[in-house]
This record gives sequence, structure tokens and C-alpha cells, in this order.
Amino acid sequence: MSEERIYINKLVNYKNKEVVIKGWVNAHRNQGKMVFLDFRDITGIVQGIILPGSQAIELGQSLKAEYVVQVKGRVNERPEKQKKEGILNGDIELEVLEIKVLNTVEVLPFQINDTSLVDENLRLQYRYLDLRSERLQKNIKNRSKLLKFVRDFLYQEGFFEIETPLMSAPTPEGSRSFVVPSRVWPGNFFSLPQSPQQYKQLLMVAGFEKYFQFAKCMRDEDPRGDRQPEFTQLDLEMSFVTKEEVMALNEKLLIELIKNNYPEKKIQQIPFPCISYQAAMEQYGNDKPDIREDKNDPNLLAFLWVTDFPMFEKVDADNNIDGVAEWTYTHNPFSRPKDEFMADFMAQKNIGNILTTQYDITLNGFEIGGGSLRNHKSEALKKTFEIMGYDEARIESNFGHMLRALEFGAPPHGGIAWGFDRLLMILENEPNIREVIPFAKTSEGKDVMMNAPCDISEKQKQELKITILKDDKKNKL
Ligand code: AMO
Repeated sequence: MSEERIYINKLVNYKNKEVVIKGWVNAHRNQGKMVFLDFRDITGIVQGIILPGSQAIELGQSLKAEYVVQVKGRVNERPEKQKKEGILNGDIELEVLEIKVLNTVEVLPFQINDTSLVDENLRLQYRYLDLRSERLQKNIKNRSKLLKFVRDFLYQEGFFEIETPLMSAPTPEGSRSFVVPSRVWPGNFFSLPQSPQQYKQLLMVAGFEKYFQFAKCMRDEDPRGDRQPEFTQLDLEMSFVTKEEVMALNEKLLIELIKNNYPEKKIQQIPFPCISYQAAMEQYGNDKPDIREDKNDPNLLAFLWVTDFPMFEKVDADNNIDGVAEWTYTHNPFSRPKDEFMADFMAQKNIGNILTTQYDITLNGFEIGGGSLRNHKSEALKKTFEIMGYDEARIESNFGHMLRALEFGAPPHGGIAWGFDRLLMILENEPNIREVIPFAKTSEGKDVMMNAPCDISEKQKQELKITILKDDKKNKL
């Protein structure tokens, strides 16, 4: 059996011919003298049949679901009555002539396509098996298609895809950062990015004008159904733009993405409606309202822009991870106030009334993205930190590099980041973000397949000069 492998979705081109396929046993039914087998590869499924008297019958009877096989067979037209319309290979079947087992299977921890009652942590522990299911194959293939679609669209619009470091200094996005200890600089730590915010602005200073990236972001916050400690943003930034231009580009991209990839879905309103933060709070009591006219329609998509957020809010003592200060930013310390509030902002007056250029995009009650125009002048950015009560030394040590960069001909700029996984979760009608992330963390933030986070060796601790303080909570997770 050394003939060329034919993919299952191409079998229809080989009617009445002998072919070799490779893949998995998807289903297996012994029917007395005959055996029915469904075979699966990355392109689809075909029904196989081993006829009475075939030399393959004995081996065929002993196969189990998920065995890996190479099969030589003849592509036959199905009898008229057994033809199934509208499914791949519905009019053909493979008459199995020879089987070679390429690998066997231990007892499966769960049935691949029947996991509704299976504990999710077990699914995540055997993620590579769960990923074989129709549901996750569809989600992950669609994820791949969307990555390509967005990429193609943005390249067409003149964007450059530029990667930025994962090991860096902390950048504030309102959450805690994960840190990486340095062996070469003991006692010092890299921070994993909560977003590429500072780098993308520095790329604008560097003159790239249109940047995008599918950025891995890490945030040390408690996971929720729509949140993971590690997630992917579609991150973009543009120079010399208005807020309206950034919003229009993103709106066009979202509309085309849906028309081309989810033709069954309907966007409730185009252009997307826009509401101020204040109106959203008054009308709906939250800033990401679900404005769908029919919340039971799984194909209805109701996008909504939310703008005119307050730029600062009073510090909540419990969440004051930055230390003592009266005011903090609501979204992003790099955002610029709306023009009409610039004078008050620079004079540090009426701080609670200052509105920012921030725009959030929501979909069916979820915040799927947010962005703003930025303070591109050094003295304006510095003002934000002064309002937040930072002293000169802290401003210099945390943000000196940004303030300096803005002194060297930084263009006006602005951008946005989408929560790519969150958007996909909604488009795939999934109840949880984990269903669209290939290797997701559990609801407790662990990777139970790789067993992470985990202890490190004494040698590594010594090299890193790390001592672990005893923590009673440690064993609870
Ligand atoms: P923001 O913090 O609003 O903005 O993040 C942008 C979008 O990312 C998604 N998101 C998440 N998705 C999954 N899990 C998480 N833990 C998580 N946290 C956020 C949300 C959110 O709307 N640098 C700015 C963007 C900018 O101003 O250009 C930023 O990161 O859908």
C-alpha cells in the first residue's frame, strides 16, 4: 500500500477507482458479516464498508473508534436509496479492500462528540481529544479563517503587521501583570504585556502610521466566562486619524467579516448605532447594553459604539493597585481628552467632568473592543499622571521613555483593540470563551493539560535567587 494519499473531500473525483486514504476511525458498526466504518481526516468524513468475504473483514471487526488507519478502497456510487443529499460524500462510499493500522487507542476518557455531561476540566486535560470534536474543529477552523480574513483586509488597507515583545516592563491596563524573573538580573522581573499599548504608540513615533498585530495579552485577573488570563487581541494603531476614521475602518472590517464568513447572521443596524456613556447608564444601567430586538435569535448581531466616557474616576480604595491617589484613569492612561476638555485637563480643573476620546465597541451585551485617540504631546501625557497624583520620580521611572518619545516628532495617533476570542465566542454562539481558544485555561486559570502553573526546581530557584514564602492558599487551587 504505497499509493498517493487522497484527502477525503476529494474522493468524489475518484468514482470507480481505487484510492488510499489516511485518517481516524470516526465510527464503527459491526453488522454480522459486514462492517460499516466512518473514516475521518482533516477534510471530512466518508462511510466505509467491508463486504462479506473481504480479506479486510477480520481486522475491520477489531478496529475501534479513533484508531489511526491507512485504508485502500474502491470509491463506489451508493445505491440510489442510500444516497444522502447535502452532506460531503453523501453519494459515495468506500469499499474497504485493505487496512493498515498506524496507531491504536487506549480507553478514551470521554466520547469525542458527546461531552455535554463531561466535566470541563477533563475536556481541558485531554484537550487534544476534545479538539477532534466537530464543535471544536469548526470553532478552531473558523478562528483560522477569521485571522486570515482580518489580515488580508488590513494588508489591503495599507497596514503593516508588526510584532512587539512579550518580555517587557509593566504597561497599565487596569489589571495585574504576570511577571518573569530574570536570572541574569536577579531580583528583577520582566512583565508580560497586558496589551501592546506602549509599543504600538512607539511604532507611530517610528513612522509606521498603520500597524496591526494579533497580540497575545496576559492579565492576572480572575477568569470569567468571557475572560481568560491569556487571550488574543486584534490590536491596531493609526497616525493622523480622527476618532471617526478609526471607528469607520473597524465598522467596515466587522461588517465585511460577518458578510463573508457568517452569511447566515444579520446585523441589526448599519451604520452601527452610537450612544454616550451617560445615556447608556441612564437607559440601560450599564455601559455594554444588549440592544438586540430579539434576544432569542441566535443569528442577530447588535453592535453598538459607546463613547464620551469620563476620563478619570475617583480611586476605589479596594482596587487601588497603584498606591494612593485621588483620581485614576477609567480606561487607558494614554487616552486624550475630547478637544473641548483639553483646557480644563491641562489646568487640572473639573477633573470629574472631563470626557475622553475613548470609544468602546459592544456586541450583544459584551464589550468586544475599545480604543481612543492618544495624548501625542509629552506635556499632555504627563498631565494625566500628575492628575493621578504620581510624583516626578514615579512618572520618570514608569513613563519617562514614553514622555521622551513624544518629544521627538510624535504624530497625532489613535487606535483600538478587539478581544478576538470574545468576538469569536459570540459569532460561534458559544456560551464560553474557552470553546474558541485552542488550549484554554480552566475557570481557575490553570492549564490542566500541561500542569501549569507549577513548582520549579530548587536549582532554578537558586539561580533566580527566589525564596518561596509558605502560603496556605497555595494548595487550594
Ligand atoms: P482593553 O483593555 O479595553 O483595551 O482591551 C481590549 C479588548 O480586549 C478584550 N479583553 C479580554 N478578552 C479576554 N480575556 C481578557 N482577560 C480580556 N481583557 C480584555 C475585551 C476588550 O474590549 N490597549 C487598549 C486598546 C486601545 O486603547 O487601543 C486595551 O487593551 O474585548
